[in-house]
Amino acid sequence: MRRVILAGTGSGNPKKKVTNDDLTAFLDTSDEWIKTRTGISTRYLATDETVVDLCVRAAEDVLSSTGMTAEELELIIVASVTQDKIVPNTASEVQAALGAKNAICFDLNAACSGFLFAMSTACTYVSGGVVKNALVIGGEILSKIMDWSDRSTCVLFGDGAGAAILTAGEEQDTPGGDKDKRGIVGFRLGSDGAKGQVLLLENRPVINPYTGPVKEPVHYPYVHMEGQAVFKFAVSTVPRSISELLKETGTDINEVACFVLHQANLRIIHSVAKRLKVPDDRFMVNMDKYGNTSAASIPLALDEALKSGKAKKGDLIVIAGFGGGLTWGSMLIRL
Ligand code: COA
Repeated sequence: MRRVILAGTGSGNPKKKVTNDDLTAFLDTSDEWIKTRTGISTRYLATDETVVDLCVRAAEDVLSSTGMTAEELELIIVASVTQDKIVPNTASEVQAALGAKNAICFDLNAACSGFLFAMSTACTYVSGGVVKNALVIGGEILSKIMDWSDRSTCVLFGDGAGAAILTAGEEQDTPGGDKDKRGIVGFRLGSDGAKGQVLLLENRPVINPYTGPVKEPVHYPYVHMEGQAVFKFAVSTVPRSISELLKETGTDINEVACFVLHQANLRIIHSVAKRLKVPDDRFMVNMDKYGNTSAASIPLALDEALKSGKAKKGDLIVIAGFGGGLTWGSMLIRL
């Protein structure tokens, strides 16, 4: 087993910034409602960018911050629910754009938990010696799956991409292991498919010569969300996942310098902080700028935490999230 080091992070955002006030031009909403209910002030929305463009921006950012070359990458995983194409997968298109010719590439869908699931997958490949360097990206253009007349969902989301590189460290007997040494200490993931209906995005229906005539016009599907059910799921599941992870790794919660949670709603973060009995200021917050960017949200927050000095080299941090599926998870990392 190899130790797995977080070598660096990167961000890639669309150019267009949209304020809450901008949305009032076509939606019955207000800056006050959005800010007080969610903590969101602005979001970036793609206009002429693709998901691949945003992922490549984030990948170039992390490559330049780590000083690595694209050819050193042996694995690229993109977590997304809004890929530009079904085939080829986003990771392969990112590979081509970067010239990362030695990488194996695939996409992964675990909705807003996608980055965590992709990180844990990459961690397993690296710790098992399958690859040495892995690029993990969460990238989304959620604005294309929003019903822009539904004020209860469209104001919450934004577009963007965040990336991280995991690299192999020293040999050790167990995965994770010594939490005083740099690297991923452990992770916990969970899923509950029986409750998946509360956050839904249908795919295209089955229509072929044997399915009979199409009765209704086929519409592009949009996100459907039962906001309060998702809220309740998040505030109960995330603290439990973090507590179990800390217990499993023999970590006192006060050893954790920074919590980087999925940036869905400031009230969710405050509620998680309260349940864990941790002061709010140990939680990274940047949903005010980006909104909820689904799989991109944790890496965008992690990148900002690292670049702003909120989380520093040597710190023990937790990244954690929740999303459609339902899915959730948490990961403990020594930076
Ligand atoms: N602007 C103004 N009013 C709005 C609005 C908007 N953008 N969206 C909804 N409202 C209205 C509703 O119509 C409702 O009006 P009514 O009382 O006249 O019926 C009122 O505000 C309250 O709506 P409600 O849905 O009860 O609000 P809420 O306090 O539950 O907040 C969410 C809604 C979506 C912000 C909240 O439930 C939430 O954040 N849930 C979690 C969502 C999430 O994290 N999703 C991502 C999963 S990865």
